[in-house]
Amino acid sequence: MTFLWYCLSLLAMYSSSISAMPEMLLAPPFPRSAVMAAAARAAHLLVDRPPYLHVDEVAARLLDADGTEPIGYHLALPDNPLLRAVRVEATCRARLADDVVLTCPARQVVVLGAGLDTFAHRHPRSGTDVYEVDLPSAQRAKQAAVARAELDSPVRYVPADLSRDSLAPALRAAGADPAASLVVTALGLTMYLDRDAVADLLAQVAGWPGGAELVADHLLPADDEAARQYTAGVGSAVADGGEAWRSRLTGSQMAALCREAGFTQVRTLRPEEAVPDLLRRRADGLRPGTTSGFVHAGVGPTSEGTVSGR
Ligand SMILES: C[S@@+](CC[C@H](N)C(=O)[O-])C[C@H]1O[C@@H](n2cnc3c(N)ncnc32)[C@H](O)[C@@H]1O
Repeated sequence: MTFLWYCLSLLAMYSSSISAMPEMLLAPPFPRSAVMAAAARAAHLLVDRPPYLHVDEVAARLLDADGTEPIGYHLALPDNPLLRAVRVEATCRARLADDVVLTCPARQVVVLGAGLDTFAHRHPRSGTDVYEVDLPSAQRAKQAAVARAELDSPVRYVPADLSRDSLAPALRAAGADPAASLVVTALGLTMYLDRDAVADLLAQVAGWPGGAELVADHLLPADDEAARQYTAGVGSAVADGGEAWRSRLTGSQMAALCREAGFTQVRTLRPEEAVPDLLRRRADGLRPGTTSGFVHAGVGPTSEGTVSGR
């Protein structure tokens, strides 16, 4: 545990020191939480064995623009239980979100708390608009990384602080069509919002006039030793970077918030239910913990017959 703390401290130093690099002078540092999530997705392909829970070959390119240290921790400590747990969390939720978005008929994709999300770069689809929503500084950092990595940028950036800004007006201002449906992902976001802000955000999505489908994860109460260690390691690392976790919700609490917000179809999933086949076939001990839950919810014509039946 001590050595891992050392690694996470290095990550903390890395995050704060990149602002001193000449090429980074015009861009703010990435949010530490976004670096950790992207590094976990990238490292999964380097550290773990197939079948992969999720394939994201773009994350490393975004991180490479600043150096590979965050991925290097996974390479140095491939069997570390905490880093392995971070990889499982990040890849299971990304896989579920990809599956939902790619099978949803909506042509407006909204990525909330986007960080270094790569969906738009991995799945450019003509006729589909991808809106990435994050804090303004996080968006400037992402845009700078996209430019340095020389990636196409088929993204509409929507700067917003979702702890106080309303989502729907921000999306409309960015060009989203209220009459057309949305498919919305919120990965690694809700824990950075308090419960009231999560409820407001859900209401904004459920109230979209054209209908909406949502996939989100949420932090569960830390009821066992593994979850407490995850909180001590990951929660402390992001809190030290100014990103404190503000909410923990059980699956039934999250489902109730979704229904109160106006979603008519709600299903909660444990991570192992998101990618059951890929997890069942594993021989390498890569297993989800008890840290997060997922919710998949829909309202309106978009999700009729899909949310409960997929
Ligand atoms: C753990 S990262 C997840 C990034 C990405 N969704 C992923 O899974 O790789 C959390 C992201 O949420 C963003 N975030 C946190 N609080 C936010 C807020 N109040 N408004 C908008 N974005 C926020 C952070 O800036 C960060 O990019």
